[in-house]
Formats: sequence, structure tokens, C-alpha cells
Amino acid sequence: MSSEQRFFRFLQERIGLDVASVGAPMVERALRQRCTAVNAYDLDDYWLRLQQSRDEQQALIEAVIVPETWFFRYPESFSALADLANKRLAELAGARPLRILSLPCSTGEEPYSIAMTLLDAGIGAQAFRVDGMDISPFSISRAEQGVYGRNSFRGSHLDFRERHFDPSDDGHVLHSRVRQQVKLQSGNVLDPALKAWAGRYDFVFCRNLLIYFDVPTQQRVFEVLKRLIHEQGVLFIGPAEGSLLARMGMRPLGIAQSFAYVRQTEVAPVFTSKPVVVTSMSPTLSNASRPFPAPARKLKVNAPPPAIAAALEPSTELLAQIARLANAGSSAEAQAACARYLQQHPPHAQVFYWLGLLCDTAGDTGEALSHYRKALYLDPQHAEALAHLAALLASQGDVAGARRLQARAARRADRESEQ
Ligand SMILES: C[S@@+](CC[C@H](N)C(=O)[O-])C[C@H]1O[C@@H](n2cnc3c(N)ncnc32)[C@H](O)[C@@H]1O
Repeated sequence: MSSEQRFFRFLQERIGLDVASVGAPMVERALRQRCTAVNAYDLDDYWLRLQQSRDEQQALIEAVIVPETWFFRYPESFSALADLANKRLAELAGARPLRILSLPCSTGEEPYSIAMTLLDAGIGAQAFRVDGMDISPFSISRAEQGVYGRNSFRGSHLDFRERHFDPSDDGHVLHSRVRQQVKLQSGNVLDPALKAWAGRYDFVFCRNLLIYFDVPTQQRVFEVLKRLIHEQGVLFIGPAEGSLLARMGMRPLGIAQSFAYVRQTEVAPVFTSKPVVVTSMSPTLSNASRPFPAPARKLKVNAPPPAIAAALEPSTELLAQIARLANAGSSAEAQAACARYLQQHPPHAQVFYWLGLLCDTAGDTGEALSHYRKALYLDPQHAEALAHLAALLASQGDVAGARRLQARAARRADRESEQ
């Protein structure tokens, strides 16, 4: 075993970190930093100190974690949450407040975004409670302070800052009205004690953590998350974390860019009364030949009455129908509608993406790969196809391929947040 391997194993066992996901040089740098901080002679000496001190174990963990986060990351998840929360509250009919978990919550931007979303949606302070948990006590204490600098506010839609923060010399201070909705604590997603919270949460956000775990650890964590969520609950994950979920009995809700999943067994679609969101690229084929395709345009499509449907552009109506079927969990019908679309119209990235997702959900990995690739051939920047293909490649051990796609997706997200 190389002298670093025992540290890699320690981190894997303690926090689930798959060193390959962040790269060995990053962890080696953290080890050198800690050796200097405690004046260790060499790695053997540092190993001894690590064994003897819980504080040093925590310090090494703090040195390797990636606390990157910001307010309203993946904004569509929060719009979806507002709708779903109102629906869930109606079901609960005052029996208890909504319970939401953000794990990992890092420095608090995610759980506070949840609280701001629900308050802005007109949900009263007594009607919900957010728990935030992270392995890093340092991040938790930053979250408790509620003071945020520029990096926490990204993108151009920052009106929430005017509503919920006051400017100060140190940054922006979050109003106590939002802070008091969130209970923060340090904790480990791998802690077996979490099992005791079975069925507690209506919504769980577990985003951008699983990408740092190997597949067996991801599986273990998904089991925990599934157990934490109420039967009708919704799990929000990061864009690159969906593939494994499909194989673990969860299906995507089908709300574009929300990365929201429910249990497969749940027959009634959560969003029946709401409009179906369809991402449409137009015109389709020219996207493939353009070096910088236009960003996705969102159409809100309600199930139209037959008379109106007849007047609609046929391809648009068929796309809406595919989305409705996929959202409703009618996989075979959705696949048939995709096939009909491809017979009647030119190839469309979104249709291949849906085919990929439907096959992925059904566990047909080979077909899913091929469809995602076709989607990306037609639209090289298709965000969801990039994310799902990356996750699928990672689950098959093609870490380099997955990283390339994740980097492409991140570049696209950066470009969008700058616009
Ligand atoms: C990239 S941040 C994600 C924050 C937020 N969910 C988001 O998507 O913006 C990853 C966080 O995971 C935390 N973390 C890493 N391993 C963990 C574990 N085993 N249990 C709980 N939190 C963990 C880190 O401390 C870090 O704050």
C-alpha cells in the first residue's frame, strides 16, 4: 500500500469520499497542508497523530471537502418545490407542518433557499420546518452566522436578495425571519443513526454529494435517503446523479431541470393538475450544425382540449403528449409516442433525451446510452442529456468520460448564469 493509500481509505470509510472523484493530487495537497499545520515529520508521523486525535480527523475532513454552493442553485428545483409544497400541504390538511431536509447543506445557501422559496410562495412560517445537515462543523457555523459574500449570489435573478437580506460591511445578512425556519446541525450521511428518522421528510435535497462517492457508497446512501422520505415524498438530487436512482426504484417527476424523483411504486403522478414543462429546441436540425446552439426555450403546455390541439403545430402537440405520458409514468405509451414523433418529424434532441430517460428508468442501459448520445449529437449542449449520460458512464466505471461531460455541462451552466 502506498503511503497515501491508508489516508484515502480512511476518507472513504469515514465520509464516503472516492478519491478518484476529486483526484488524488487534491487529497495529497490537503495531506501536505495538514502535515505542515501540525508539524508532522512525514506521512507516517501524521498517520499516528491522525489516529490519536478526533480533532485532527475532523481537520483533515475539512481540508478535503468541496463546500461549493450558492443560493437558488438549479432554480427550477425551487419553482417545482413551491408547487409541490402547496399540494402536499393541502394533503396534510393541517395535521403537521411540512418537513424538509437539506443534506448536505454546506454553508446554508440551499436550506435557506428552500425557506425563502416557501415564504415567497405564501406558505406561513408555522407550516414548514427545514433541517440542514453537513459533515463540516465549520460550514454549519458559517451557515448559522447567515452572512454571505458575492460568491453565494450567482446569476442575474437576484431579486430575492432585496427581499430577504440587508447589506453590511461583511456581506449580506440574511433576515432572521428566514434563518429561524432552518435548524442546522453537523452530521454524516453515512451515520446509521439516520435510520431512526424513517419517513420523516416530505422533501429531501441531497445534491452534489453523491458525485464524490463510489457506486456501492451511492447505493448505501440512496437506501438511507429513500428511508428518510415519506412514501409520497420527493427527492431532489444534482443533475449528474440520476442514473443510479432509476435503478433503485425511483422515477423522475419529469419537471424539466428540477432533478426531482419520487418512488416508482407511486402510481398517481404528483403533478397531474399542473402544466407540463417541455423543453423545445427550434428549429431542431439546425442546432446540430450550429457551433453555439441557442439555449433551450421553455414552453408551458397544458393538456389542450381536442379542438385547440387540432389547431396546434402537430410536432409541438406530440412533444407535449410525450411529456404528459412520461410525467404520468406511462412509459410504454411515452416510448410509442416518441417512435411516432420520429417517424413523422425530423430527429429532435428532446425526443432522444426522453427515449434515453425512459430506457434508463427501465434499466436498459445500452439503449439509454445510445439515445442520450443521439440527443447530444443533435444538441451538444442539451443539459439533461449531458447530466444523465455522465451519470450513466460513471456508474459503468468510465470516470474520465463522465468527467468530460460534467465539465461540458458545468461550462454551459456557467454561461447561462452569466447571461
Ligand atoms: C458541493 S457541497 C453541496 C452543497 C449543496 N447541497 C449544493 O448542492 O449546493 C458538498 C457538501 O457535502 C458535504 N459532505 C461531504 N461528505 C459528507 C458526508 N459524508 N455527510 C454529510 N455531508 C458531507 C461537504 O461538507 C460539502 O459541504
